[in-house]
Amino acid sequence: MASGATLATVFSACGGSPTSPSGMASKLGVLSGRFTGSGIQVNVSGSALADVGGAVLVESTAGVFLLARTSASAFSAIEAVCTHEGCTITGTDGATYVCPCHGSRYNRSGQVLAGPARASLRQYATTFTDGIVTIAL
Ligand code: FES
Repeated sequence: MASGATLATVFSACGGSPTSPSGMASKLGVLSGRFTGSGIQVNVSGSALADVGGAVLVESTAGVFLLARTSASAFSAIEAVCTHEGCTITGTDGATYVCPCHGSRYNRSGQVLAGPARASLRQYATTFTDGIVTIAL
């Protein structure tokens, strides 16, 4: 059984940092995705995805995804579950996704830029028609 002194030491080591692990990341906007059975449909109008470079967190009954607009007609979709310990990635810093739990950073293709995560996020194919992005599952 841990003594009070040991717990105090552990708490101090974890909580003593003056900055959050996610640094200067800002929070991604959230869009609802519609699960169709074979994919997730996301309406981009009026969201951050209306502009090239924009990114959002997509929530759906089939999971959570990071969706970014990479050109007028192309999007990148990756799983939003951090490969470190499973937190949902909710932060963005420029073109970098940032995990709020321990600060892992990923690029828009899901590759790790900074740990503690070591494995890439899974990427999904997308199609774009009439203002609707479909993430193929
Ligand atoms: S769960 Fe994402 S960095 Fe630890």
